[in-house]
Amino acid sequence: MGVFVSTDDPGPAGHEQVVFCQDRRSGLKAIIGIYSTALGPALGGTRFYPYASEEAALADVLDLSRGMAYKNALAGLDLGGGKAVIWGDPDQVKSEALLRAYGRFVQSLAGRYYTACDVGTYVADMDVIARETRYVTGRSLEHGGAGDSSVLTAWGVFQGMRAAAEHVWGSPSLRGRRVGVAGLGKVGRHLTGHLVDDGAEVVATDVDSRALEWARTNHPGVALVADAAALVAADIDVYAPCALGGALNDETVPALRARVVAGAANNQLAHPGIEKLLADRGILYAPDYVVNAGGVIQVADEIEGFNFDRAKLRATRIFDTTRQILRLADDEGVPPAVAADRLAERRMADVGRLRAIHLG
Ligand SMILES: NC(=O)c1ccc[n+]([C@@H]2O[C@H](COP(=O)([O-])OP(=O)(O)OC[C@H]3O[C@@H](n4cnc5c(N)ncnc54)[C@H](O)[C@@H]3O)[C@@H](O)[C@H]2O)c1
Repeated sequence: MGVFVSTDDPGPAGHEQVVFCQDRRSGLKAIIGIYSTALGPALGGTRFYPYASEEAALADVLDLSRGMAYKNALAGLDLGGGKAVIWGDPDQVKSEALLRAYGRFVQSLAGRYYTACDVGTYVADMDVIARETRYVTGRSLEHGGAGDSSVLTAWGVFQGMRAAAEHVWGSPSLRGRRVGVAGLGKVGRHLTGHLVDDGAEVVATDVDSRALEWARTNHPGVALVADAAALVAADIDVYAPCALGGALNDETVPALRARVVAGAANNQLAHPGIEKLLADRGILYAPDYVVNAGGVIQVADEIEGFNFDRAKLRATRIFDTTRQILRLADDEGVPPAVAADRLAERRMADVGRLRAIHLG
C-alpha cells in the first residue's frame, strides 16, 4: 500500500495529500490523509489506535479518508474527504500535550482538513484539540459543538432502512417487520427507539451485558438472542449491523434470512464481491456509508454554527438518497454499493469541476 499507487487508475484521482506529524516529547505520531477537496475542505474523524506498524496506520488512513470523500459527497455536504490516525494506545499515551500538538498540525493545514471524533477519540478530546485549531468539529454542546453524533447517525440509518423497505415491500413503514439489531451501543439504542416507535418488532444482541440490561429495562418487548450468528439465522426481515465492520462475510451472507440489510456499522462488506453475493441471494443492501452519514451531517453542521433542527432535516434526506441509489442500481443492473459509488463520483466530478470557472 502506498500513497501514489492509483496514479494510473483512470477513475478517482488518488489521494491529494498525506501528512506525517510527529512530536516526540508528547509521543504524538499522526498521519492526516486528504483524499479529495473537490467539494470543499476534507472532513473526517481522528482514529486513535495502537496499530501494529506504521504501514498499518498508513493503510487505514488512506482507506478511511477515501471512504469519507464518498460519504460526504452522498450526504450532500460541501466537504471533501479526509481522515487522520494517531498511532498509539489512547489509554497509555493520550494527554493534553499530545492532543494539542495534534491540533497545531491540523491548524497548519489552514482549513484543508477538519477533524472530528472516531474510534478512540471523544467529544472531550475535540474540546482540547479546539484550543489549538479552528478546524475541529464534534465538540461538546457547551463549546458550541454538535455533541454526540450517534443521535443523527441512528436517525439517518432509520431513514435509509425505511427507503429500503419501500423498495422491497412498497411501503416505508416498518410496522410489523422484524428487525435484527446487532450491537446495542450508542447508535443501536437510538435506532431501537425509532424502530419501536414505528411499530417494528426488534430482535437484538450485544456482547456487553450492560447493553442487554438497557434493553430489558427500556424496551421489554425487544427479544434478545445469544449472539450475532443467532441473529443472522433468525426469522427477521431486516438486519441492522450496528457493532463492528465485516458483518457481511462469506459465513453470514449465506445464512442470512433477512431481505434487507441497513445498519450503522462502517465497512460492513468484509471484502469486494460480498455485494454481489447479497444481490444474488435477493438481499437488498443499503450501503453503509450512505445510511450512516447522519453523524457526519451532525458534526459538519458545526461549521455553520450548530443547529440541531437543520442537521436533522439534512439527515432525514438520507431517505431520498437511499431511494435514488436503489433505483439507480435497478436501472443500471448493478448492486446498490456500486450505484452509490457511481453517484458519489458523479457529484465529485460534476460539482468539483465548477471550480475551473474563473471568478474574475
Ligand atoms: N456513533 C456514530 O456517530 C457513528 C457514525 C457512523 C458509523 N458508526 C458506526 O456504527 C457502529 C456503532 O457505533 P456506536 O457509536 O454505537 O459504537 P458503540 O461502541 O457505542 O456500540 C457498539 C456496540 O456493539 C457491541 N458489540 C461489539 N461487538 C459485538 C458483537 N460481536 N456482537 C454484538 N454486539 C457487539 C458493543 O458491546 C457495543 O454495545 C460502529 O461500527 C461505528 O463505526 C457510528
